[in-house]
Amino acid sequence: DTAKPWAGRFTQATDAFVEAFTASVDFDQRLAPYDIQGSLAHARMLHKVGVLTEAECKSIVDGLEAIAVEIERGDFFWSVELEDVHMNIEARLTDRIGIAGKKLHTGRSRNDQVATDVRLYLRAEIDAIVAELDRLRQALLDLAEREADTIMPGFTHLQVAQPVTFGHHMMAWFEMLCRDRERLLDCRKRVNVMPLGAAALAGTPYPLDRDYTAELLGFERPSYNSLDAVSDRDFAIEFTAAASLIAVHLSRFSEELVLWTSAQFAFIDLPDRFCTGSSIMPQKKNPDVPELVRGKTGRVVGHLMSLIVLMKSQPLAYNKDNQEDKEPLFDTVDTIKNCLRAFADMMPHVQPKRERMYEAAKQGFATATDLADYLVRKGVAFRDAHEIVGKAVRLGVESSRDLAEISLAELQAISPSIGEDVYGVLTLEGSVAARDILGGTAPNQVRAAIARARG
Ligand code: ARG
Repeated sequence: DTAKPWAGRFTQATDAFVEAFTASVDFDQRLAPYDIQGSLAHARMLHKVGVLTEAECKSIVDGLEAIAVEIERGDFFWSVELEDVHMNIEARLTDRIGIAGKKLHTGRSRNDQVATDVRLYLRAEIDAIVAELDRLRQALLDLAEREADTIMPGFTHLQVAQPVTFGHHMMAWFEMLCRDRERLLDCRKRVNVMPLGAAALAGTPYPLDRDYTAELLGFERPSYNSLDAVSDRDFAIEFTAAASLIAVHLSRFSEELVLWTSAQFAFIDLPDRFCTGSSIMPQKKNPDVPELVRGKTGRVVGHLMSLIVLMKSQPLAYNKDNQEDKEPLFDTVDTIKNCLRAFADMMPHVQPKRERMYEAAKQGFATATDLADYLVRKGVAFRDAHEIVGKAVRLGVESSRDLAEISLAELQAISPSIGEDVYGVLTLEGSVAARDILGGTAPNQVRAAIARARG
């Protein structure tokens, strides 16, 4: 029997379209394991405070556990008439165990129930996302360690700026992911608060032991205001904001990987199994994984906008608007987990092409700043040194030579402060090794950063 649990005061059956329009069961059935977890804790607490007898509690617990198995096996019939995951499971419980099932909802509302389910779900998913982040962070550390001495051009404005090491570049990504991780864990603290006991909006007259329920569910504490507990979804917005930053970071990495695999850069190779071909151009090997990850940023940032706008004009307390929180939140979780997984699987197999990167760093006068610093050490003021090196660069551009290929006589014609020892500072190795400062690109410092990260 699928009669609606709230049908008592109604004289007309629900319009068929309205029934489908207002139902959420198609998507919120994903919350089933958390809904059952929450109900189990609520039932045990109701027994502890004397609202349910031992026999009633046992029959509810057994019934819910059996339903969990039915759902997991795919044997559960989800009814749109029963609107959402909560009423579907409760109705099934009553089918199975009779009158005791009808007592489960004592001192509870779907409003505090759904807020609890979403928090339990999100807490578990944050932990799963952090695990994927950690796998990717580990992969970056390993790659950085292997390539701590590998020289590549560093860019500003996508123009060659100064040489850096590939390891240093990987550690830049690593730092971003560390902040993403912190943001998630910080958000988790605010997710991990329990709404149950807020009931519909005002609390409940039953002597619920909210601390006990919270303890059973692993929540840090019960919520402190019933109106707030059932109505705000700021925790989901906050999560989606943290997820958006992860998406933006992955998108920036992706952009670099796409550039680097092009024939014009050719800084890295991606294994065939992370690439796809073209149906018309036989030579093609396309970096689809980073391209898709870059493209998926749009939907994640879009979900952040959806949730923020969803919240903005809602009066206290619960409004049905909040049913719209689920699809954006679920898709954010799925998308971020998949993108992180793809990256964590792929990064250990990125093949840096050391010679190509080295050659690229030799073009573009990447050591011009080193020459200026050299002149400063010889007593030339930095602004004058800048001017002198500019002239040397112009000579190099006009004669298609790197700074290291210009003769001492020619350099000395530009500045008599230049001596034989200048060629030492014009090498790429000398340039990176000189930046031996906390946070700098010197291989020493990259190794120190890795050691710090490995703790
Ligand atoms: N499906 C609803 C949601 O997702 C559950 C809460 C419904 N509460 C209500 N009073 N209609 O928000």
